Amino acid sequence: KKDNYILGIETSCDETAVAIVKNGREIISNVVASQIESHKRFGGVVPEVASRHHVEQITIVLEEAFENANMTWDQIDAIAVTEGPGLVGALLVGVNAAKALAFAKQKPLIGVHHIAGHIYANRFEREFEFPLLALIVSGGHTELVLMNKHGSYELIGETRDDAAGEAYDKVARMLELPYPGGPQIDLLAAVGEESIDFPRAWLETDSFDFSFSGLKSSVINTIHNARQRGESLKKEDIAASFQASVVDVLTTKTWKAAQTYNVKQVIVAGGVAANQGLRKSLAEQFETTDIPLLIPPLKLCTDNAAMIAAAGFVAYEKGKHAGWDLNANPSLVL
Ligand code: KG4
Ligand code: ZN
Repeated sequence: KKDNYILGIETSCDETAVAIVKNGREIISNVVASQIESHKRFGGVVPEVASRHHVEQITIVLEEAFENANMTWDQIDAIAVTEGPGLVGALLVGVNAAKALAFAKQKPLIGVHHIAGHIYANRFEREFEFPLLALIVSGGHTELVLMNKHGSYELIGETRDDAAGEAYDKVARMLELPYPGGPQIDLLAAVGEESIDFPRAWLETDSFDFSFSGLKSSVINTIHNARQRGESLKKEDIAASFQASVVDVLTTKTWKAAQTYNVKQVIVAGGVAANQGLRKSLAEQFETTDIPLLIPPLKLCTDNAAMIAAAGFVAYEKGKHAGWDLNANPSLVL
C-alpha cells in the first residue's frame, strides 16, 4: 500500500503551526510558531493581534515545514486544516491558506475539529483500541468523549461553566502570575502544601459533567478573607490546594467513566494534559486497573499541526473531503 502524506495547518488560537505526517502516525516535520511573548503583556490572547501574527507567520512556517521534511509539494496527498472551534479571525487565516494551497496545488482539502486533533496527538505513540475514552482538558474545553471507532465522537460529559485551563488561567491571574498561568500554577503546586480545603464539584451522582466556577469563586473568597484578616497565604499553598481540587475531580470522573463504559483505552488531550499533577494522579489511578492510559508527550499536548494532520488522515482514508465552501466555524461541534 502506498504511503500517504498529509500536510496539517493549525491557527485556531495563538500558535501558527504546519506539519507533515506520514500515514497518520509518523511525524515528518512539525513546526510551531508561538505568539505567547506578544500576548503576555496583555495577560491573555488578543484576537486581533493573533490574526495579524498568523498572517505574518503562515508562509514562513509552511516553508520551514517543507524544509525540515526535505519534501516537495508533489509528495503531499492532502491538506488538513483546523476549521473550528477557536478564534474566528485566527481560524480564517489557516482555512484560507489551506484553501488557496489546495486549489493551486490541486490537492484534496480536509476540515478538522480542533479537539479531534488533540485526541489524535495520542496516535503517534500507540494505535487506538476501541471503545476508547478521551479526557479533553484545554483552555476552552473540558470534555469526556467516548469513541467507538475512528472519527466517531460521543460526548458523555462536559463543563457547565469554565474549562479547566480557563480556571487555571483565572486563578493564576488572581495570584498575579504571568500568562499563560496553567504552567506557572503547576510549578508552584509542586512545592506548595495542600493546606486549604477547596470544594470539589461532583454534581449529580451519575453525572460526568464538570464545573469549575465554584472553585474559582472559592479561591477568590479565600484570598480576600485572608487579606481582610491581615493574613497572607502562600501562593504555593493556594496553587497546590487549587490543583488538588481540579485533579481530584478530573481523575475520579475519568476513572468512573472508564469503568462505566468498559473502555479498552483512556487518552488525555489538550493543553492541561501537560499538567504534572494531573499526569501523576491519572497514572496512579489507572495503574490499579488493566486499562492502558495514554498521555501525549508535553510537546504534543499543546496546539500543533501534526495532530491536525493525524486526525485529517482518518477523514482522508474515508474520502471525506471538504468543498471550496469550507469556512472557519468558531463554535464547531465535535
Ligand atoms: O490546548 P491548548 O494549548 O489551547 C487550547 O486549545 O485551549 O491549551 C491551553 C491551556 C491554557 O489554559 C494553559 O494555561 C493550559 O492549557 N496549560 C496548563 C499547563 N500547560 C498548559 N494548565 C495546567 N498545567 C499545565 N502544565
Ligand atoms: Zn488546543
